Amino acid sequence: MIKRSLFIVISLLLATVLHAQELKSPDGNLFLNIKLDNNGTLLYSLDYKGKSVVKESKTGFIINPSITFNNDFAISNISYDSADQVWSPVLGQQKEIRDNHKEMLVMLSQASTGRKLNIRFRLFNDGLGFRYEFPVQENLRHFTIKEETTEFRLTGDHKAFWIPADYDTNEFPITTSHLSEVAGLIDDVRKEPLAAKSPTPNLAIQTPLMLKSQDGLYINIHEAALVDFPTMALNLDDKNFILSSHLTPDKNGNKGYIQTGTVTPWRTIIVSDDARDILASNLILNLNDPCKLSDTSWIKPVKYIGVWWEYFTGGGSTWAYSNNQDVIIGKTDYSKLEPNGHHGANTAHVKEYIDFAAQNGFDAVLVEGWNEGWEDNFAYSKDHIYSFTKAYPDFDVQELHRYAASKGIKIIMHHETTSSVVSYECQMDDAFRFMSDNGYNSVKTGYVGPIIPRSEYHDGQWMVNHYLHVVKTAAKYKIMVDSHEAARPTGLCRTYPNWIAQESARGTEFESFNGNKPDHTTILPFTRLMGGPMDYTPGIFQGDLSVYGSNKAKLSTTLVKQLALYVTMYSPLQMAADLPENYKRFSDAFQFIKDVAVDWDNTYILEAEPGDYITIARKAKGKNEWYVGGITDENSREATINFSFLPKGKKYTATIYADGKDAHWIKNPQNYTIRKITATNRTILKQKLAPSGGVAISVK
Ligand code: NOJ
Ligand code: CA
Repeated sequence: MIKRSLFIVISLLLATVLHAQELKSPDGNLFLNIKLDNNGTLLYSLDYKGKSVVKESKTGFIINPSITFNNDFAISNISYDSADQVWSPVLGQQKEIRDNHKEMLVMLSQASTGRKLNIRFRLFNDGLGFRYEFPVQENLRHFTIKEETTEFRLTGDHKAFWIPADYDTNEFPITTSHLSEVAGLIDDVRKEPLAAKSPTPNLAIQTPLMLKSQDGLYINIHEAALVDFPTMALNLDDKNFILSSHLTPDKNGNKGYIQTGTVTPWRTIIVSDDARDILASNLILNLNDPCKLSDTSWIKPVKYIGVWWEYFTGGGSTWAYSNNQDVIIGKTDYSKLEPNGHHGANTAHVKEYIDFAAQNGFDAVLVEGWNEGWEDNFAYSKDHIYSFTKAYPDFDVQELHRYAASKGIKIIMHHETTSSVVSYECQMDDAFRFMSDNGYNSVKTGYVGPIIPRSEYHDGQWMVNHYLHVVKTAAKYKIMVDSHEAARPTGLCRTYPNWIAQESARGTEFESFNGNKPDHTTILPFTRLMGGPMDYTPGIFQGDLSVYGSNKAKLSTTLVKQLALYVTMYSPLQMAADLPENYKRFSDAFQFIKDVAVDWDNTYILEAEPGDYITIARKAKGKNEWYVGGITDENSREATINFSFLPKGKKYTATIYADGKDAHWIKNPQNYTIRKITATNRTILKQKLAPSGGVAISVK
């Protein structure tokens, strides 16, 4: 009895002491404060250089059926830790990344139920990450999340670069507006014919969310290490400027099936008064676990071309082999079907691409439409699934393997699942074995259409687990994965570097539907790319698609801006997406794509403002070569390129690919000049960029 009272007294004392705590970032600029409010809810707040970034905001959960797991808490313990270490990504924007942070682990215990919840905070010089940890405990073994009640209380009506929340897609145009204006705009954006597919929550937007405050702070909210948990969107209270977690449910409305002994993804807030620091941040990678693959020697950067753009130009090329839509995979004998005469992935045509790839120093050729099943690819209602081991009769797998290998080229496999995910999982091992038997070392996966037959959402916990399952299984076969239409990335490429890239936003394909605006690529690095590399597929030189026939779309950039994207849109997997004939026509500009590196020793963010412009220089991995890319939105501008990133005292030749005098994304996109200058680390170049134009520079 005495022991017990003593324990209570000590606990009470501890609780008073532990009622509120602070933590400073290593450089002292960021300041995290935590405290319990009167209801026993843990609040956190974040300041940067004395300015408030996030005001006192709530944490916690409601768990099913309606148990509050966000109040009635006492702090039972707080422990501190810190790290300052350097690690090397397998592929990346830098050879070395510094992880320098202070940590605070807050252990909470509910007074009435004894249930325990821990929150781990990590404070870096560029922002904050925190995650929930569910310790193994007597009264809680597994449970279902009804709501996550994490808040981000902002200080005002910030400018936001946003896309609507949607459980199934992130392929929206990005809107720039104040938070108070989102409600008036969101329905129109959702009506975008090519985008929304799922019942969407009311006033909610997706992460990574980029914000700019009136007092000049750049704030980026996202998540890191999304594993076995649903994707987080953000509810918007546009009267009080409170964002709160909106987890993607399953179709029963459950938001996550949890077993204790696990942790949630990190909630991340990156902040600076200089927009360049947002692009330079490695916070999300730092919050992910180190690489879990013991051998990574087979993971290589990939520059590729593909039998792909011709499907979008309106030139007649088709994924499908025949026009017969009554095919049944496994039953139909394709050798007896009448070919439609326009099948893109035929052996002779693929060989032409392999030749072009080999002549121009590419690593690989993507081939879409190689396998049985494309006749009916938009019939999502059928449980339709392609075969991933059976090629069309006119695609000779063995001959192409031999031919590609003889030229040092890899073929990139394509698995369009049309979201028949269960069926795909059943075929997966066979499909990957087929790949390794036939010399493929990378796959582009696709999840077009609703998930069948489970009625899951693309961004729910079940699918999040699926995407990672594919990546882990692929690793066993030494296969790299480029997933399209998957939930947007959260830095897992650090842990599983064979997850070489993802799409997960509007890429170049939308240019063929007139779907991207001139500012699109000045925002993507601040939003979608915060979580990892994007297979954006740049490099379209023939931007007016009416030359091919039926498609009247026009690209929203100049030709030179297409070159600059190889530097501004980081990815170790980069496509030269246009048709070889267009590269032959503009062979001098094509030289930049041939030269540009895709894996880097270092990255220098020279200029940046979300929605307006980005200028980046990068040093090629293991080479004394640098590449610079600068882009602008619909406004012409003068970029200032300071070559101070070059080593001192040496002279280099810089080849400058610039918009011509009359270049303009609508009126004259193919107007460009190429000139050479001598550059040293004291050179400062002023370069004019056309409306939606760019500049690309190689330095050797
Ligand atoms: C959408 C992908 O983004 C695109 O790259 C692909 O060609 C089509 N799906 C067909 O799989
Ligand atoms: Ca897509």
